[in-house]
Amino acid sequence: MDLVKVVTRDLDQTMANRCSPLAAQTISYDSNDIAWSNSNTHWRNMRKILATQVLSNTNLKSCQSFRTDEVRRLVKEVYSKLGTKININEIAFKTEVDVVTSMLWGCSKSGDGNDSSIIGDGFREVEIKIMKLVAAPNISDFFPMLWRFDLQGRQREMQRQLAYVDWIFENIIQGRIEANSRKNDGEAEEDRRKDFVQVLLDLKEEKDAAISLDIIKIKALLLDIVLAATHTTSTMVEWVMTEILNNPGVMRKVQDELTEVIGMNVVQESHLPKLTYLDAVIKETFRVHTPGPLLVHRCPDESCTVGGYTIPKGTIVYMNVWAIHRDPKNWTNPLEFKPQRFLIDKWDYHGNNFKFLPFGSGRRICPGIPLGEKMLMYILASLLHSFDWSLPEDEEFELSDEFGLVTKKRKPLIAIPSQRLSDAGLYIF
Ligand code: HEM
Repeated sequence: MDLVKVVTRDLDQTMANRCSPLAAQTISYDSNDIAWSNSNTHWRNMRKILATQVLSNTNLKSCQSFRTDEVRRLVKEVYSKLGTKININEIAFKTEVDVVTSMLWGCSKSGDGNDSSIIGDGFREVEIKIMKLVAAPNISDFFPMLWRFDLQGRQREMQRQLAYVDWIFENIIQGRIEANSRKNDGEAEEDRRKDFVQVLLDLKEEKDAAISLDIIKIKALLLDIVLAATHTTSTMVEWVMTEILNNPGVMRKVQDELTEVIGMNVVQESHLPKLTYLDAVIKETFRVHTPGPLLVHRCPDESCTVGGYTIPKGTIVYMNVWAIHRDPKNWTNPLEFKPQRFLIDKWDYHGNNFKFLPFGSGRRICPGIPLGEKMLMYILASLLHSFDWSLPEDEEFELSDEFGLVTKKRKPLIAIPSQRLSDAGLYIF
């Protein structure tokens, strides 16, 4: 824990590079994104654009209706499957993709150009493949002179995934450019609704080099957001539901709180800050099932010393947050699932308390915390308030995980919903 503090505080600037592996370079359009870029002016500008144009309070507020629509669509879909087996990760992933793509190119969804459904159901499999390829050991990363031969075929496989997502983004962007040129005559600039794709296309025309973007950077940023937001959030929805189904006492308390705060009504985003017990359950799940167990590695731009050891320039440095979250020096009975530990003292996700770092810490901390936190709470509150859940008798229930860039549940959680709210009208919007 003390060493993480040294890396992310005292040496935060020196340690801010990524030195990304070849597979990550390929999928990030040659590190033209945020996550795989080294710490440089490009990275700073892109983070600023993400923070001010997508994740600002004002923008998150103005996109509220997208989230509401998609979460209600989720409730309606689950309602249509009452009494049947549901794969929780699958439905959470689809909802998260729909929310994020609405924010990114929502105006295309309303029919003024392209159709966002282009992203399709196959996207989940592509994303899983991308995550696996980024985390898989590649001999070319260790012996750079071998990269041309691509002995394990990893780059070729990643190129194939990139071709698929690139085709999606080309369609969205070119469709928007054409729609804009058709509209230019009839509509004043200020009358046009702006989503993130539009904001980025406007920056393309910008003369100021600090915020000007080309099409490659636009695509890299879009892919970064879709990849960073969807897999993490849906994985966490699955883990929280797993722990709740494994602890009936926790389920009872969560649902009692939901009834007290919301009554027999539909969950609204305004209810979320009042759900303190659900918040503690989510934080405890983050502790026990940290989705990014080693965060994303860092890399010093000059030799430095950490804990008395010399770390040469360019060394790959991992921070084992998984171990910190389970260290008995930091947590009493760390293997027990006890949400009440997060009801004592004030805990947040901003990486200032080095015992709890699910989103990282320092200058490379996840910039998506406000959206990730909101979506997790909203999806979970809606699933748990609208439905009672049980486990199918013919499926084995277990809690083991599968290590990766994002730690998934090894076997998908399958659960059966039943109606919880007496008024059927609350499920059909
Ligand atoms: C439950 C949801 C999420 C979790 C658990 C999560 C976790 C993380 C973690 C652990 C990192 C690495 C931090 C480090 O290196 O110290 C990260 C980076 C990142 N996340 Fe998230 N994230 C989530 C949601 C989101 C969302 C919703 C977005 C965007 C809309 C996002 C965008 C990013 C980006 C762009 C980076 C790279 C930052 C950089 O390298 O400077 N994340 N995330």
